[in-house]
Amino acid sequence: MTQLKPIYPLYLNNKAEQPNADLEVTDKFTGEVAFRVAQADAKTIDAGIAGAVAAAEPMARMPAYQRQAVLQHCVDRFKERYDELAYALCVEAGKPIKDSEGEVGRLIDTFRIAAEESVRITGEVQPLDISPRAKGYQGIWKRVPIGPCSFISPFNFPLNLAAHKVAPAIAVGCPFVMKPASRTPLGAIIMGEVLAETDLPTGAFSVLPAHRDGADLFTEDDRLKLLSFTGSPGVGWDLKAKAGKKKVILELGGNAAVIIDHDADLEDAVDRVIFGAFYQSGQSCIGVQRIIVHADIYDRFRDMLVAKAKTLVAGDPKDRNTFVGPMIDVKEATRLDGWIQEALAKGATLLCGGKRDGAMLEATLLENVDRDTKAYREEAFGPLALLSKFETFDDALDEVNDSKFGLQAGIFTRDLFKTLDAWDRLDVGGVVINDVPSYRVDNMPYGGVKDSGLGREGVKFAMEDMTEIRNLVIRRR
Ligand code: SIN
Repeated sequence: MTQLKPIYPLYLNNKAEQPNADLEVTDKFTGEVAFRVAQADAKTIDAGIAGAVAAAEPMARMPAYQRQAVLQHCVDRFKERYDELAYALCVEAGKPIKDSEGEVGRLIDTFRIAAEESVRITGEVQPLDISPRAKGYQGIWKRVPIGPCSFISPFNFPLNLAAHKVAPAIAVGCPFVMKPASRTPLGAIIMGEVLAETDLPTGAFSVLPAHRDGADLFTEDDRLKLLSFTGSPGVGWDLKAKAGKKKVILELGGNAAVIIDHDADLEDAVDRVIFGAFYQSGQSCIGVQRIIVHADIYDRFRDMLVAKAKTLVAGDPKDRNTFVGPMIDVKEATRLDGWIQEALAKGATLLCGGKRDGAMLEATLLENVDRDTKAYREEAFGPLALLSKFETFDDALDEVNDSKFGLQAGIFTRDLFKTLDAWDRLDVGGVVINDVPSYRVDNMPYGGVKDSGLGREGVKFAMEDMTEIRNLVIRRR
């Protein structure tokens, strides 16, 4: 039986420190305190940033094979600690154990991809003799690490979304300070414990849980050259405004849509939409929120979907049969409950779910939802999805684009030309054919447009952001 420790340290300049155990982390299902974690104050964060600045040069000089060895060590240790990591996620995030195991698998993938990419950072030889004045000149460019980075990671994937910042940073040779989400810091702390077993230069990493009020340095300190934030759109855009001269990468939210066209395999589409809308209680930036269904199959698809949603087992995330666990806290569940009530008051029809008990909110489906409601316009980030009907494929594409967000969209179709039209016309970071927008593999470019963010993650793409191009011009005489 996996057990968690009663208290955990923070990691400052590669070392575990236990200045206090101020941060109480609850089991999200029972609501009881599960363990306590050290919390960094401004002085500690300042020391972490100073350490990262000092480590910038040794990190930049570290040979690729050594950075690769660090990443491979992480892969090996995460495999060894698989059960413990999954259990930690299940407790601290309330993530059903099967989803927690899935996330540990993805964590291992992310570090494995980074280990591979770390020895493939290349540049380009560029002939410059494009006109008589450049005769005899030649250029070569390469990538160099951007320098000390600041990472702020979210509660919904405490391991893998932290890994999408940490692993590329090590792959390119950037030191970093990381603030994990206060409600789910343990995933990143265990990552710190594993990194502390390696011979990264002192200051290469600090994992510093911190209260939001004391955490301004992560955003505002000018010694940091890049801020990578994953979290809610409101917070993300606000941080960007305070980030000064740093490069800023934002992975924010969405109200993702899926189109079910008339030729879709309905059983398969129902299974995938159930997964996309309700896995980990809909707490994914690419969770299915809007289901746009062709009029010819609407009634049949809706009835099948509702029947399936009603069979989902809700309850204790530690139970292997559980599909829908708690939301992250009662406040979030109450917020979404309010949005459901608002939609119902504005004429929506409740197809299933709709009841809340503390942080547990049932898998809820609505139809006839007014577009001028929070449930339609904002990011639900919970177990709520809305059905609507379309007549022409163009109308369906317009509806997907009728959003201030643009992360990913899914389309169930067998038509290649519709696929290509959608790929051209949808204002999103990625289009997924014959699956839900919630589908992600960790080496693909991932990120959004409009209010959904700036820049791309997906290891190789984050590595590009964490480097600068340095050019060399040679004049031959
Ligand atoms: C997110 O919630 O932004 C990440 C989704 C994923 O990695 O599957």
